[in-house]
Amino acid sequence: MTELMKNPRVMKKLQAEIRSSVGKINKPLVEETVCENLKYLRMVFKETLRLHPPLVLSIPHLSQKHIKIGGYDVYPNTRIQDFDLLPFGSGRRVCPGMTIETATFEFVLGNLLYHFDWKLPDGMHIEDLSMEEELGLIVNKKIPLCLVPVKHI
Ligand code: HEM
Repeated sequence: MTELMKNPRVMKKLQAEIRSSVGKINKPLVEETVCENLKYLRMVFKETLRLHPPLVLSIPHLSQKHIKIGGYDVYPNTRIQDFDLLPFGSGRRVCPGMTIETATFEFVLGNLLYHFDWKLPDGMHIEDLSMEEELGLIVNKKIPLCLVPVKHI
């Protein structure tokens, strides 16, 4: 939401995608089935994780024995990665919550943007939005985002 507030062009494009898709099926809610077809929303999800991965370091996993993959030799203690969506890790121990997290993100953000326009509180400007992060078990925003919702009719 902070990145979207800092990039009004992207916010507008995303809301237009969501509102036009939901409008077509005449439903009061952005449902998971709708989210599946929202390509720009999926791109925003991936870009958000690229810019702000909640876990900063992936746990290194090593091959234990000599194997062949696609005709290539992989020797013991080699780190090989599937560079697809790295914030969730990769390989055998890839995050099993990836699918539920993608659905949850798209469902929640999709509905927040479908039903409301978002304004900064009076006297606040885009430049005042803090992007500072705080490192704990996962990365959090240091200063919470405070916005004013305006119901979209
Ligand atoms: C944006 C949200 C999330 C991110 C960025 C994330 C990221 C990760 C990463 C990087 C790992 C380590 C993968 C590796 O060892 O290579 C992991 C493991 C794991 N995640 Fe997630 N995760 C997220 C959400 C979730 C959710 C919603 C669930 C459960 C519903 C979940 C369950 C797990 C479990 C059980 C493991 C351990 C898997 C194993 O060691 O075999 N995660 N996650």
